[in-house]
Amino acid sequence: MQLLNLTPLDALFDPHIPALTSTAPSSRFATATRSHLGGELRASHVGAKVKLGGWVHRTRNLGGIVFLDLRDRAGLVQVSFDPKWTPADVIERAGKLGLETVITLEGEVAARPVEMRNAEMEAGEIEVRARGFQIVGPAETPAIPVARGKGEKLPAEELRLKHRNLDLRRFELQKNLILRHRLQQATRRFLDERGFLEIETPILTKPTPEGARDYVVPSRVHPGEFYALPQSPQLYKQLLMIAGFDRYFQIARCFRDEDLRADRQPEFTQIDIEASFISPEDIISLTEGMLAVLFQESGHDIPPKFERLSYADAMERFGSDRPDLRYALELFDASEAFRGSEFGIANSALAAGGRVRGIRIPGGATLSRKQVDEIELVAKSAGAGGLIRLKRGASGLEGPAAKFLSESAAQRLAVGEGALCLLVAGAEHVTSPALDRVRQDVAQRLSMVPEDKRSFLWVTDFPLFIREQNGGLSSVHHPFTAPNPEDIKFLDSAPEKVRALAYDVVFNGTELGGGSIRINDPALQRKVLSLLGIDSQTAQLRFGFLLDALSVGAPPHGGIALGMDRIAMMLAGASSLRDVIAFPKTTAARALFENAPSAVPPEDLRDLHLQTMTN
Ligand code: AMO
Repeated sequence: MQLLNLTPLDALFDPHIPALTSTAPSSRFATATRSHLGGELRASHVGAKVKLGGWVHRTRNLGGIVFLDLRDRAGLVQVSFDPKWTPADVIERAGKLGLETVITLEGEVAARPVEMRNAEMEAGEIEVRARGFQIVGPAETPAIPVARGKGEKLPAEELRLKHRNLDLRRFELQKNLILRHRLQQATRRFLDERGFLEIETPILTKPTPEGARDYVVPSRVHPGEFYALPQSPQLYKQLLMIAGFDRYFQIARCFRDEDLRADRQPEFTQIDIEASFISPEDIISLTEGMLAVLFQESGHDIPPKFERLSYADAMERFGSDRPDLRYALELFDASEAFRGSEFGIANSALAAGGRVRGIRIPGGATLSRKQVDEIELVAKSAGAGGLIRLKRGASGLEGPAAKFLSESAAQRLAVGEGALCLLVAGAEHVTSPALDRVRQDVAQRLSMVPEDKRSFLWVTDFPLFIREQNGGLSSVHHPFTAPNPEDIKFLDSAPEKVRALAYDVVFNGTELGGGSIRINDPALQRKVLSLLGIDSQTAQLRFGFLLDALSVGAPPHGGIALGMDRIAMMLAGASSLRDVIAFPKTTAARALFENAPSAVPPEDLRDLHLQTMTN
């Protein structure tokens, strides 16, 4: 690389640059070295003398005139170096400027001739006629390009994540992070106006059970002991309610060591809320109001009240507790049509207490055998043994199972002209996830998802517990969720029947947030922990601080947490959380830019009283 001498900063304060013309709008971005952002210049600035600073985005040399697109946070502005107003040596130096070099320049804003206007550039009506410039940040040839031609593809994501500093210069990412900033400010305003206090909770803490593994941090001063990074501020926000703060919120960083997907990151941000003397209805309407404000930041009006489904209905009708309601394709129960038939797959499922469930796909008969085979693979990957296929032909129902069905049974299935019926036989925990995946896959394949539609949904009445394969109970949300008082009587006899005072908010099939009313009675909390298989000694060890706090005057309280990253992703129209997080991790939980995680020198490990299996 050719090293350029950086201009001493005081050389930038050119006393000869005339002041702005009095009528041109000034900028809140003005500093001693810069009068405006180039991207914010408009026709109203014509005639103004300006000082700009930014990155060389693109240059063109047209027969002795150098045009340069200067980029800054506000966008691009064209700078022209022309013998009519620029000294020859300056033009020559401008022609040699490398892409991504940072320069400061002085010039005058001029209207572009009509035929030279660029409608795609916000500052496209004007240009800056430069008299001089200085290089203040020389640049080597960038590893990935920042400027892209029309239709030019982005470099591979892994490469972009490795060079995140350059990738973050792209307008798309800048726009996303600016939107995210606005969403966070709007959240703060909304909650502050309603009396919520922003209170920070610890990052070095004790495990908080949210169902994932903890990231742990070794203590140097307490050999063999570890902090956990919070999976959420759940216990702290409850303690704040018990302390009498009444209404809390935090834009909280959470850490979960779990399998990653496009909508999951190992560290992520929640809008975390808790309030005292509050009911599920209060939290639901508070959340609806807040989401309306956040969606408004992107110019979207949303319904003032969202649809609601109980967990049981959502599972029955869609096989999922976060169904996408932008399209129908509801599940139906076909068990009765097969009961007593000779069809082995159905019979063994029914005999084992399972069901035959499926979807009817209008127009699905046009799907090729290969396509249906692909859909079957999706069902199998979600645990189904296979798919039972039926369609209506000229002489009635067709498909391997058709011959086992009586005429009345076939009629009961109500497979219409041109429709395809796909069925799964088995227990609930097999048919629901498989049909949920089939439903989503078919909707995508047959373009049944109206992209401009927005569907909000509350799922309520979740069960408090689920029964694990090993026979034990675990929490559907977390162990501090209050049971519905009507169902407390079943806690001992039929714990799976107990509904929770919990609610999730779902947008277009993605869970945006979840919350609940909490247990504020220490005896009930101990009871729930014991049903989860946590004996009283362990309960005291892990959650003693909460149990003790609940014993000294705990108000009824509840709350919710919304995924900030997910909301930003939806509103930015991005397909991955990585596009709304400045420095995200890969799906393998690696930070490619700064290269984390990484090995620690042996002496540091010794200080931490640690030994790794590899040293
Ligand atoms: P929950 O675990 O449902 O609830 O989390 C709330 C919301 O956080 C978002 N979220 C995530 N976003 C990105 N990456 C992840 N790995 C990730 N995990 C969760 C989701 C989710 O809906 N303490 C409770 C809330 C409460 O009861 O008040 C909790 O954390 O959008």
